[in-house]
Amino acid sequence: MSRPAHPKRGRKAENRAVVPAEMEAVALDEFGPPSVLTQRTVPVPRPGPEEVLIAVHAAGVGVWDAKIRDGTWADDDIEFPLILGTDGAGVIAEIGERVRRLHVGDRVWAYTYDNPKGGFYAQYVAVSTKHVAALPKSLTMLQGAAGAVTGLTALQGCDDHLEISRGQTVLIFGASGAVGTLAVQFAARYRGARVIAIASGSNARTLLEKLGADAVIDGRRRGALERIKEAAPDGLDAILALAGGPMLTASIGLIKHGGRVAYPNGVEPNPRRRRRVRVVPYDADVSPTKFAELGRAVGKIRLVVPIAATYQLGHAAKAHARIERGHVVGRIALTIRGAARS
Ligand SMILES: NC(=O)c1ccc[n+]([C@@H]2O[C@H](COP(=O)([O-])OP(=O)(O)OC[C@H]3O[C@@H](n4cnc5c(N)ncnc54)[C@H](OP(=O)(O)O)[C@@H]3O)[C@@H](O)[C@H]2O)c1
Repeated sequence: MSRPAHPKRGRKAENRAVVPAEMEAVALDEFGPPSVLTQRTVPVPRPGPEEVLIAVHAAGVGVWDAKIRDGTWADDDIEFPLILGTDGAGVIAEIGERVRRLHVGDRVWAYTYDNPKGGFYAQYVAVSTKHVAALPKSLTMLQGAAGAVTGLTALQGCDDHLEISRGQTVLIFGASGAVGTLAVQFAARYRGARVIAIASGSNARTLLEKLGADAVIDGRRRGALERIKEAAPDGLDAILALAGGPMLTASIGLIKHGGRVAYPNGVEPNPRRRRRVRVVPYDADVSPTKFAELGRAVGKIRLVVPIAATYQLGHAAKAHARIERGHVVGRIALTIRGAARS
C-alpha cells in the first residue's frame, strides 16, 4: 500500500518517490539492554505543515542513545514504542504544505532530539524544517549521518563557546570520539589553533595526527599531566571537554587566567569550576543558520568524518552493544538504504 506525496508540488516534484504507508523501524517497548531494540513494521509518519518527510539513508548512533535506551536519561513523558536516533541523512520524500525552503528530492542532513514523530532508526522520519539543511557536497550520506549533531556540537564548542582563534593552544579532552575527531579539525584547521588531543591507543593517535593534532597524549597514562605541560609551556587558552574525570580536573589547572572550558551537557562528571576560568556547559543548537555555519566549515576544510563501524538497521542492538564496550574511534552509524555511501 502506498500514499501519494503531498499534492503541493515541490520544485523537483516530478522526481518524488512514492511513499509507502508502512516502513521498517527499530524501536523499544521498555527500557533495558541493547536486546530491547527490535525491528518492526510501523506506519510512516506524516509531515505536518512545516515539516518534511526524509527517506533516511543512514542514521548516527550516539552514546546518548544508549542512555535513553537503558532509561538513564528517561523523560517522564516518553511514549512506547520509542524509535531512537537523533540525526541522519537522506532524501526529502514529501514536504508539508507551508514548506518553501526545501524540496522533494533534496539531499539533506538533520538533527532533532526528542522528535515527537520518532527518530532516525527508521526508513522515514518527519522533521521540522528548522532542523534540516542541504547536505554539504563534500559529504556522503553516511558521513552526513555520522556528522550532523556531532558536527554542530564540535563547531559550536570551538566557535561559540570557546571562541578559539589562530595561535591559541587548545586541549581537546576525549579527542578520539565522535565529537572530538571533528573538534580537532575545526580547532586546528578551521581556526588555526595548536591542538593537544587527549586520547588513548595507537589507532587514535595515528588518526588524530592526520586530522591536525599537534600533540596526542594518553590521559590515562602516568605522567600525562607533565606531558601536557611540556606541550603547552605557556599554559592552555581553552579546553573542550568531551569526557570528565581527575585528569580533566588537573588539566583545568593549566589554563591561563581568563581562559575557558566548554563541555556539552552529558559529559560526566561535570568539569569543576575554577576561579578565573569560565566553565560553560552547552547543548548543540540546531537551526538553518547553525547548519549553514557548519556547512561552510565542512566545505572549507573538507572535514573528514571518521566512521568507526556501520551496522544495518536491523542490527541496531549490535551497534549499541559496540558503543557500550567503549573506545570507539569516530562515530558509529546505521545504514538504512543501500546507497548510503554515495
Ligand atoms: N548536549 C549536547 O548537545 C551533546 C551533543 C553531542 C554529544 N554530547 C555529549 O558529549 C560527550 C562526547 O560525545 P561523543 O559522542 O564524542 O562521545 P564518545 O564518542 O564516547 O567520545 C568520548 C571520548 O572520551 C574519552 N574518554 C572517556 N573517558 C575518559 C577518561 N576518563 N579519560 C580520558 N578520555 C576519556 C573516550 O576515549 P576512550 O575511547 O579512550 O575511552 C572517547 O574518545 C558525551 O558525553 C555526549 O553525551 C552532548
